[in-house]
Amino acid sequence: MSSSAVQIAPSLLSADFSILKDEIQRIEEAGADLLHLDVMDGHFVPNLSFGLPVVEAVRRVTDLKLDTHLMISDPGEYVEAFKKAGSDSLTVHFELSTQGTDLDALIGQIQNAEIECGLAVNPETPVTALFPFAARCDLLLVMSVVPGFGGQSFIPETTQKLRQLSQWLKESEMNAPIQVDGGVSPENAASCIDAGASLLVAGSAVFGSADAGEAIRRMRY
Ligand code: DX5
Ligand code: ZN
Repeated sequence: MSSSAVQIAPSLLSADFSILKDEIQRIEEAGADLLHLDVMDGHFVPNLSFGLPVVEAVRRVTDLKLDTHLMISDPGEYVEAFKKAGSDSLTVHFELSTQGTDLDALIGQIQNAEIECGLAVNPETPVTALFPFAARCDLLLVMSVVPGFGGQSFIPETTQKLRQLSQWLKESEMNAPIQVDGGVSPENAASCIDAGASLLVAGSAVFGSADAGEAIRRMRY
């Protein structure tokens, strides 16, 4: 993977929400490629974050692609609403399928809305779970922390999962980009990229840095 193909997606969850517009401008100037929006419902994950009004407000102040990570139990109920709010992609979790969601139908619904579709696996879920759906997805997300909170430590076993997924995609002649999310920093970005990730989500490492531009540059490696 050449580093020029790597994209950095700061996660808004780590921004200072009292000055959100300034924070978005700061990471735009720092060279962010897209903006990662973590939507949590306090049910699918044990935390609440923000929802449609914030996505809509963010849409009004940036042209960055809005990469929307849905950690909610009923994403199918809100596909059209997120599209209308300005999301460019919706990433949903494989784990929903163990709670009764028909993933094939959900992916179809997102595609029908003419919005990009991502599929995520939690740290305890093997990447093989993604294989049956990969051909229909615009990105595949390997979580490197248990979702719910920013600022957690990167789970080292993720690197092996990234490598396995990347290898399988190559063998299958598929080229959906692999996203990694959770605890990603300038210290571990290179190992993620070497293992096949090309979309790096980073919250605290970017928004928490006094020099976000330097943090982003170091992550591209
Ligand atoms: C965790 C979220 C992540 C998180 C990343 O549930 O999906 O996107 O905000 O934050 P850091 O980079 O601080 O781990
Ligand atoms: Zn996320």
